[in-house]
Amino acid sequence: MKAVVWHGNADVRTEDVPDPRVERPDDVLLRVTSSGLCGSDLHLYELLGPFMHEGDILGHEPMGVVEETGADVTSLRRGDRVVVPFQISCGRCAMCETGLQTQCETTQVEEQGMGALIYGYSSLYGSVPGAQAEYLRVPRADHNALKVPDEGPDDRYVYLSDVLPTAWQAVRYADVPEGGSVAVLGLGPIGDMCCRVALHLGADQVFGVDPVPERRARAAARGAQVFDPSGTEDPVESIRERTGGRGPDAVIDAVGMEADGGHGPVRLAQKVVSMLPKGAAASLMENAGVDRLSALYTAIDLVRRGGTVSVIGVYGGMADPLPMMTLFDKQIQLRMGQANVRHWAPEILPLLDGSDPLGVEDFATHHLALDEAAHAYAMFQKKEEGAVKVLFRP
Ligand SMILES: NC(=O)c1ccc[n+]([C@@H]2O[C@H](COP(=O)([O-])OP(=O)(O)OC[C@H]3O[C@@H](n4cnc5c(N)ncnc54)[C@H](O)[C@@H]3O)[C@@H](O)[C@H]2O)c1
Ligand SMILES: [Zn+2]
Ligand SMILES: [Zn+2]
Repeated sequence: MKAVVWHGNADVRTEDVPDPRVERPDDVLLRVTSSGLCGSDLHLYELLGPFMHEGDILGHEPMGVVEETGADVTSLRRGDRVVVPFQISCGRCAMCETGLQTQCETTQVEEQGMGALIYGYSSLYGSVPGAQAEYLRVPRADHNALKVPDEGPDDRYVYLSDVLPTAWQAVRYADVPEGGSVAVLGLGPIGDMCCRVALHLGADQVFGVDPVPERRARAAARGAQVFDPSGTEDPVESIRERTGGRGPDAVIDAVGMEADGGHGPVRLAQKVVSMLPKGAAASLMENAGVDRLSALYTAIDLVRRGGTVSVIGVYGGMADPLPMMTLFDKQIQLRMGQANVRHWAPEILPLLDGSDPLGVEDFATHHLALDEAAHAYAMFQKKEEGAVKVLFRP
């Protein structure tokens, strides 16, 4: 089959690889019909290179049709249309039972000290073959495939794998009070969807911050008040002015570790890491804390006293400096983590009935063949050609 394969920093290729198979009785084999390209893939594209191996198949946002089922699979049949959550969980352990599927005690990547397995997401998350491919092996399939209706386009359902539950969790964790305000830093697919979900769930004022004009325009068109962090106007001051001088009740960091406008020396450390041999780079990356924290710092500065910072952007350093005095003195609530897809899916599914309150059906800016992956990654990373959300159509 064809798949998108990691070869090195900023080097992904579409190649023929061996077909996956049903290996265990609780697996299904999925024929992938749509598969998203995510900001999280961009972290693997360069920054997390030390945790990647040449030949790793990328991708974690698929949907498709069940092609074959293992003998123990009870709830799925050949021909079923399903969306696959980006993490693999068991559905039975104490963590799964409390709705924390990303902390699943059965699939945790113990040798790395990390949470549940994630498709196509480096050795940190178990080096599971990814979903930007024609076929995908889905383990523990009764729990890790969400059946969706046969009618309606893929674009209606595919974001249930990641974008929708991720944005939903970010907004729920932000805990915006009735009639309250929330600022969303970063208006990539995740931040854009956070704005939509926040408005849908009743936030009164939603502010969006991103340096890319067409990303701001998308959020503005759906009712967010938008700001350019690279412009002359300081978004922190402007948002404070519109929130009684106090700052918003909550701030969502939908940027993560590759923020623009960060601190020079940190950027330098990242470059150094990406040039080191694998072992040395991995340990520096884990221990030296080379994240770019500028979006998180902005969130901590911007949020009102006693407010909540909800971090949904991915961070990867192990020893990052945080302004503990400010966090403590402002009495900030801080919540974060990978999205627990199955936990939020029942709240989201009713919105995917065709009425489309969140605008998922025209959310993607690009539908591309797997063969165009190298171009797609470069275009999405550089934010060229108006790329906000790319869906592969294997
Ligand atoms: N927690 C989860 O489960 C989960 C799931 C999916 C994605 N993510 C993470 O969410 C983040 C966003 O993902 P995405 O797909 O939207 O990616 P993306 O890279 O397209 O979005 C990031 C956006 O942040 C903007 N940005 C950069 N620096 C900024 C700054 N200083 N201030 C404001 N905006 C800034 C960029 O212009 C870009 O539009 C990534 O870190 C990704 O890994 C997390
Ligand atoms: Zn994703
Ligand atoms: Zn579990």
